[in-house]
Amino acid sequence: MTATVDLLLRNLKPWGEAKTVDLAAVGGRFIAPTVGMTAKRTIDAAGRLAIPGFIEPHIHLDKVMINKEVRTNSSGTLTEAIEIIWEKKRTYSTAEVVARAGSIIESGVANGVLHFRTHVDVDTIGGLKPMEGVLAAREKYRHIADIQIVAFPQEGILRDKGAEELMWKAMEMGADVVGGMPFNEASPADSKRHIEIAFEIARKHDADIDMHVDETDDPNARTLEMLADQTMANSWQGRVTAGHTCALAGYPQDYAAKVIAKVKQAGLHMITNPATNLMLQGRLDAQPKRRGITRVQELLAAGINVSFGQDCVRDTFYPFGRDDTLEVALITAHAAHLSQPTQIEQLFAMPTVNAARILGIEDYGLKPGALADAVIIEAPDAAEAIRLQAPRRWVIKRGKVVAETEVRRQTWF
Ligand code: FE2
Repeated sequence: MTATVDLLLRNLKPWGEAKTVDLAAVGGRFIAPTVGMTAKRTIDAAGRLAIPGFIEPHIHLDKVMINKEVRTNSSGTLTEAIEIIWEKKRTYSTAEVVARAGSIIESGVANGVLHFRTHVDVDTIGGLKPMEGVLAAREKYRHIADIQIVAFPQEGILRDKGAEELMWKAMEMGADVVGGMPFNEASPADSKRHIEIAFEIARKHDADIDMHVDETDDPNARTLEMLADQTMANSWQGRVTAGHTCALAGYPQDYAAKVIAKVKQAGLHMITNPATNLMLQGRLDAQPKRRGITRVQELLAAGINVSFGQDCVRDTFYPFGRDDTLEVALITAHAAHLSQPTQIEQLFAMPTVNAARILGIEDYGLKPGALADAVIIEAPDAAEAIRLQAPRRWVIKRGKVVAETEVRRQTWF
């Protein structure tokens, strides 16, 4: 019997594989094509690079596209970026958050991002309004994007009286992951308690944890080590992610080595956000200015799972961005000195297989049985994809083409 499938993909060159493959999609899953199989649509990838989609593991969808509606961040610092958002957050409406978040979800998907993990502010300033907005955006875009939501107590949990109750409510409303900002507390004891509360919430909801850790140049910041210790104490290995970790770059070598060993032991995942942190960190330094990028190469050398995120798009923290993974890959390559062929492959693993581990995406792959998600890139390999910032020729979500890009250039040489 001849079956008709939704989509037939011919001559895909999966990243990391030597040969091209054909795959068929039916009911949102890949199957192996059979002879005589017919399809509603057939795409010949002609040997182009293919991946099961980029994964955006760290973005703030509640804050994106806000910079034209608020005053300018004149110091360029993280502190002022957060303060400006206070004014705006009090006036959020669900529809407005959906519109801003939606514009970047759409942009990300067209750029090949098929899974997102977004941090959403939970504090007594905006209450649960940002969460309501991003939950509504997730619902609206469910057909093109899988979105995990992190309840993010940016203003602290102890410092911001009432935040803990809101965190519990946010998880009940539908947040998936418990966030944190432990450095933003009044004392190391409070930072420790902040992390303990996050684990209490995570244990109750059987949830993963993903915190903003030591997003500061201050080499005295110690919350990465605290997070690693509590991950082990709670047996939460493999379920905890630390984002930013800028202070790690400023530690003395011996303390950095000790912390990296603990991060490895605790099975923490690490996410660097170079676009934002190159822009925000070191602002108050005299030359030479610190660049605020965590120790990517040392973490990789220790066998730690590392990814990168866009973090911010046109907000008070960062004025650029369009959630284009290849753009952030290029920035990460420069920020972390990743130039050799093997390092470029490590870089390409970050927003694909490494991020899939962080988000716990099952069935991620260009193979029969996996989710029928694919991005076909106008390039032969990863290094060329990054160098050329190559168009994402076809973007496929659950067996359906959801975006196509063709660039037309004319020259008269
Ligand atoms: Fe962030």
